[in-house]
Order: sequence, then structure tokens, then C-alpha cells
Amino acid sequence: MKNIKIELKNHSYDIFIEKGILDKANTYIKKVYNNKNLYIITDDNVSKLYLDKLVEVLSNDFNVKYVVVPHGEESKTIKYYTYVCEELIKMDIRRNELLVALGGGVIGDLTGFVAGTLYRGIPYVGIPTSLLSQMDSSIGGKTGIDFCDRKNILGVFKQPEMVLIDPNTLKTLDNREFNNGMGELIKHGAIGNKDLLLSLVNKPEIDEDIISQSLHVKKRVVELDEFDTGVRMTLNFGHTFGHVIELKYHYKHGEAVAVGMLMALKLGIDLGVTQKECYDVIYNILKAYNLPLDEYDYKEYMLDILGDKKNLAGTINFILLTSLGECTIYKMTEKEIKEKAKCE
Ligand SMILES: NC(=O)c1ccc[n+]([C@@H]2O[C@H](COP(=O)([O-])OP(=O)(O)OC[C@H]3O[C@@H](n4cnc5c(N)ncnc54)[C@H](O)[C@@H]3O)[C@@H](O)[C@H]2O)c1
Ligand SMILES: [Zn+2]
Repeated sequence: MKNIKIELKNHSYDIFIEKGILDKANTYIKKVYNNKNLYIITDDNVSKLYLDKLVEVLSNDFNVKYVVVPHGEESKTIKYYTYVCEELIKMDIRRNELLVALGGGVIGDLTGFVAGTLYRGIPYVGIPTSLLSQMDSSIGGKTGIDFCDRKNILGVFKQPEMVLIDPNTLKTLDNREFNNGMGELIKHGAIGNKDLLLSLVNKPEIDEDIISQSLHVKKRVVELDEFDTGVRMTLNFGHTFGHVIELKYHYKHGEAVAVGMLMALKLGIDLGVTQKECYDVIYNILKAYNLPLDEYDYKEYMLDILGDKKNLAGTINFILLTSLGECTIYKMTEKEIKEKAKCE
């Protein structure tokens, strides 16, 4: 079992990572919650696999109710935000009662947003079940929904009371979803843990230890920069290009990050910031996990980046690797970006 303590200015919480922890979730949740009613939010895929078991276990100590939404990003919308709030209010939820998010990142973001806004904030516990949500969104407190065709544009920072991660749930993920999560896990190794990164070459089992190492990379920067105004932006390695690619073509997020990392590596090498060996090492790890290796010329997308980041004035921060496991924030002005772009 691995335990990670997240220590923020106004709130600290534990993440417990253990195979089979789902079967004893009640004993953990009892440590942070002593009322009777508890409300699980989940999606229709995850509910078929894990809801009955979780309800049974939690019923030992709590009066359990639940709300199920369809799977997929469509549930991160005002429509399902309204639906979940209405269902909870119909069930007469009170301000000091607990939500439990059982599912991937969509359920985590939606439940967190409901928890952050209903009655101006109620407690919630996260039980992330996809690889992406286990190694990434269980830290950071970012919650929210998509709106006006923009991702994550309505949201609040809301920290959970506790997070329970059961690596056994990864066994039921399909290959593409699993590899999608690997895109972000490889990113954590690339920016913050060379040993973790290099260990992935051999496709190890993703167990307590690897999830914990990946979360530690994120923990370090989130604790320094809870509200994402500085060093936390290093988590965006692969995202500046990845986001543009994700909007233009139909990749999943972790896949777009994979392609975006390759583009950022090329930019870094051209600028003389990134050691050349980084490219081949990361390319081969992405290949091992069947992530896309499409080689887009970063110069052709520089202008799209200016458009994509129109909400930020002045310079754009590129996250570049310096060496394996180390990164830097590299500022470029609009003028420098236009000079780099082929088609000025
Ligand atoms: N808040 C954050 O910090 C943060 C970080 C990264 C991503 N996100 C958000 O997370 C979302 C993506 O997360 P995701 O990839 O987990 O998507 P998701 O929640 O849609 O899950 C992917 C698919 O896997 C299914 N699934 C989940 N767990 C399963 C399991 N154990 N077995 C079988 N199927 C399972 C889901 O039903 C869904 O169909 C995006 O909306 C993204 O914006 C948030
Ligand atoms: Zn991401």
C-alpha cells in the first residue's frame, strides 16, 4: 500500500493506493466522514463493473444512494451538471453529506464541480478508475465542465477529502484507454523522474509503485503552486502543441499529448535547450504503448498556438525538456513565435 499526503495551505488529504482497496473503501471513508448518507456519482460503464460491489461495501457503514450518468465527455456539460444536482436535491442531500466520484476523469471533474458548487461546497471523496484519472487528476483540485465548445471552461478548485486508488480496476480498461493514460504518465516521467521514465521502456505492470511515482511528480509542483500561476505549468509539457493537434484531428487527450511531446522535443532541440538523446528515448517509449508517433512539423503549428492561447497576453510559455526527467519554462514573445513559423 502506498500513501501520499497532499499538503496545501488550507486543506490536506491522503491518497491511498492499493490493489483491492475498493473492497474496504468503507473503512477508509469512515476516517474522513461520520454522517450517514453518502452519494456515489458514476457512469454507465463503470457502474456495470464496480457499482454493486462498492454499494455493498459502503452499506456496512453508510446509507448509500447513487446517480449514474452516461459515459464520455458529453457528461461534462451543463446538462449533466444540472441532472446530477437535481437528482441529489430530490434525494434531499444536505450540506454536510458526502459525494463519492467513482469513475474516470469525466466523473472526477463533474463530481468535483458539483461538490464545489452545491450549497457553496460539500465534501467529496475520489475513487478514480481509469489510468488517466489515477495518475493525474486525483491531485490538483481542478474540477469543471465544458461549455460553449470550450473544454473545462466552467470550474472551481475543489480538493477532495481523500482519494482511493485501486490499480486492479485498470484490468478492465480497454487498450486504447489504458495507453491514453500512459501518454500522461510518460509525461510525468519526462518532466520529473528519469528513473520512472526509463523503467517504462520495458512495459512494467502499472502497480502501486508506478502510480505513486507518477503522482509524486505532480504533487511536487501542485504543492508549490496550488492555483496554477507558475511552476505548475511544467505539467503542460506536450500540451501546448498537443492541444492544437487535439482540436484539429481526432486524438484522445493522452494521444495528443504524445504527439505534442514529440513536437516540443523538436522545438527544444532546435533551440539548443533540449539534449538530442531525449527524442529517441521518448519516441521509443511512446511506440511501446502504441501511442501515435505522427511527426507534425512544429513550425506549421506555431501560429495556431498564438490563436489557441489568445486568453494569455504577451509571451507564451513553452515547456521544454532540458534532459530526461528535467524541464524548463521557455518564454517566447509573439514576434519570436512568428519568426519560427514557416508561413509568416
Ligand atoms: N482535473 C484534472 O486535473 C484532470 C486531469 C486530466 C484529465 N482531466 C479530465 O479527465 C477527462 C478524461 O479522463 P478519462 O480518460 O479517465 O476519461 P473518462 O472518464 O471518459 O473515462 C474513459 C472511459 O473509460 C471508462 N472507464 C473508466 N474506468 C474504467 C474501468 N476501470 N474499466 C473500464 N472502463 C472504464 C469510462 O466509462 C469511459 O468510457 C477529461 O474530461 C479531462 O479534461 C482532468
Ligand atoms: Zn493533460
